[in-house]
Amino acid sequence: MITAGPTREPIDPVRYISNRSSGKMGYAIAEAALQDRHEVVLISGPVNLPPPRGAKLISVTTSDEMFGAVHRHAPDCEILVMCAAVADYKPATVAHQKIKRREKTELALKLVPTRDVLASLPQDRQYLVVGFAAETDNLEKNALKKLQNKNCDLIVANDVSRADAGVESDENEVTIFFRDGEREKIARASKKNIARELVKIFANTREKRLTKKTR
Ligand code: CTP
Repeated sequence: MITAGPTREPIDPVRYISNRSSGKMGYAIAEAALQDRHEVVLISGPVNLPPPRGAKLISVTTSDEMFGAVHRHAPDCEILVMCAAVADYKPATVAHQKIKRREKTELALKLVPTRDVLASLPQDRQYLVVGFAAETDNLEKNALKKLQNKNCDLIVANDVSRADAGVESDENEVTIFFRDGEREKIARASKKNIARELVKIFANTREKRLTKKTR
């Protein structure tokens, strides 16, 4: 199961706050997983990408919908890849009518934290959980902190400050941090090629965990 894309947090019936996530990385992972004959459920925020053929697509808009969809479907999956750029804040209230423009009047938007989907997953789960870390600075330190705090089995970190990789780009460069302290870097490549390698790494990690448990 893969989450992808941004979420949109409504302000009023015609406005929202969101982020620049294109969904390309998550969709590429879905395509690569399908190529490797995995069954794929894709929980997607609003993106401009065609749905991968053969995947079960669940479309969501807000972080609350993402939260609900992940919790509903996660118990049935073997590997959960949390690639979505879930909003961290949402407007405290949603106006029922379009907010009117008022000349010379400032408008302050009060935001409240959203629920952290990744950190809310149960500890005693059967499935492998892959987190993503989008960082503009201190990549390693921040990614390791998220691996720990969000209780992931592994975390894929990418530097989103670079213009040639990360958000909106067709390319990426990532480092994967594992719980046992191991790490693996995938050098700059197309998101498609990175996705192929990632899917193999996720499947191998799950395989290793299963054989360890049965011993
Ligand atoms: N995530 C989530 N729910 C949220 C926010 C993030 O599940 N409300 C998940 C993302 O899908 C990703 C991981 O948490 O797998 C890290 O997301 P990232 O944006 O890098 O970190 P944040 O937790 O949002 O922290 P910060 O923005 O301060 O770096």
